[in-house]
Amino acid sequence: MTVKEKLAKRAAVVEDFLGSCLRERNIPERLLQSMEYSLLAGGKRLRPVLALSWCAMLGGDFARALPFAASLECIHTYSLIHDDLPAMDDDDLRRGKPSNHKQFDEATAILAGDGLLTEAFVLMTEAGLGQGLPADRVLRAVNVLARAAGSGGMVGGQAIDMEFTGRFGQVSLDELRRMHAMKTGALITAACECGAILSGANENDIEKAREYGRAIGVAFQIVDDVLDVVGDEATLGKPVGSDEEQGKSTYPALMGLEKSKELAREYVDRAVTYLDDCQGDEQAFLSELARYIVDRVY
Ligand code: IPE
Ligand code: IPE
Ligand code: MG
Ligand code: MG
Ligand code: MG
Repeated sequence: MTVKEKLAKRAAVVEDFLGSCLRERNIPERLLQSMEYSLLAGGKRLRPVLALSWCAMLGGDFARALPFAASLECIHTYSLIHDDLPAMDDDDLRRGKPSNHKQFDEATAILAGDGLLTEAFVLMTEAGLGQGLPADRVLRAVNVLARAAGSGGMVGGQAIDMEFTGRFGQVSLDELRRMHAMKTGALITAACECGAILSGANENDIEKAREYGRAIGVAFQIVDDVLDVVGDEATLGKPVGSDEEQGKSTYPALMGLEKSKELAREYVDRAVTYLDDCQGDEQAFLSELARYIVDRVY
């Protein structure tokens, strides 16, 4: 199986869970439609798959970690809905379909994002209730994920992104690095780290998961920026050329395409070194997945 097929196979498990997790929550019909419209529109499911794979590699219980993994996708999807809003990137296409605010309306899109973010905490905590995982592990993972998604992580990174928009040429590499680490790196890092925490791993292994996540997180956003220049709209399922049109500060804008790709590859090389002492199918998959991040076309 290719890494793409392996990713798709694992994503299908997440997909199944996502399809049922918002049901029976007493969500008003139009809001539910809007939340599921974006949540079930496809997507690579990279973040939940990373969490599940780190959990499985370190000997954890894959099935019990599933609700927590799904919460990562809820948070990620909310961030995409809000990212596309006219007040932010003003993009009309997402996951191959009209953006949420285009399909519904702005108020509904804002609330669908709010709903997904909040439902994520229901899912995270459910992972530690009933027959679930030990509560102390879940509590620690909730703390890690909340920090990563919040103002000192993804939300903060998006704020920096907005601040930098239109300031092309005035943003340094250090500033760009910080923005990427926050807006995209934080959630990807938390996915890996939470998978490790939920598995019951020792501090040393949790640290490896975190460092692997940090490195692929930055590589992932560099490649996202590259694909915004050289990608194909139909394959990506989102507009290309949007960053330039909006005057975004990106790696390709700052250092050119080739240097950007080279840098992404360097980050991935660093990421796989954190897998050196691990073994088995999951280790191979996480290593391939890191490489796939720079080779991907969507
Ligand atoms: C896109 O994320 C937004 C970024 C953080 C770069 P993905 O490329 O993971 O989007 P989906 O989930 O596959 O649609
Ligand atoms: C988005 O970065 C990062 C998020 C936290 C959503 P982009 O604005 O580059 O993501 P795309 O290209 O719209 O998916
Ligand atoms: Mg954006
Ligand atoms: Mg965007
Ligand atoms: Mg982008």
